[in-house]
Amino acid sequence: MTPLSLIGLPGSGKSTVGRSLARRLDLPFLDADAVVEERIGCSIREYFEHAGEDAFRNVEESVLDELTRTHPGVLATGGGAVLRATNRERLRARGRVIYLCSTPAELLQRVRHDRNRPLLQVQDPLARLRELFEQRDPLYRETAHLVFEIGRPSVGRLVGLIMSQLELG
Ligand code: S3P
Repeated sequence: MTPLSLIGLPGSGKSTVGRSLARRLDLPFLDADAVVEERIGCSIREYFEHAGEDAFRNVEESVLDELTRTHPGVLATGGGAVLRATNRERLRARGRVIYLCSTPAELLQRVRHDRNRPLLQVQDPLARLRELFEQRDPLYRETAHLVFEIGRPSVGRLVGLIMSQLELG
């Protein structure tokens, strides 16, 4: 069982917040995308290019299945982890799930110079983020036990907020 998983769109801070939360809780941290990259032996961007998105989603599903059964700490997931119902069910059943929710405009500020996110290498990344938000926000909400509308607080404040909610729950 994985005690805590973080979900949300690219740029929502899952890895940064997850790492900091794990440190505060004295738990190990894992980034599911990094584990996927170890498995496929190249970057996710390259894999998207030569194998396609479906192949990536298959590896992602098996990595999430394994990690949600075995990782005893905080897990940051890729933004598309909620697309498959099996992933949503496993994440929710095997631990507490936290959704870091930001608006497309805020997300764009954080990812605009990032060339490693294959889905955002398009002419109009803001329009793409809006589409992803529309499609996925309901899925993130369905999967999460706790939702944080993050706006722009510091990582430290956000982690403090999550810690206090977790203690209440
Ligand atoms: C994806 C998000 C990425 C990565 C892959 C697909 C998505 O993770 O898993 O490029 O579908 O939103 P981040 O959310 O860490 O960027």
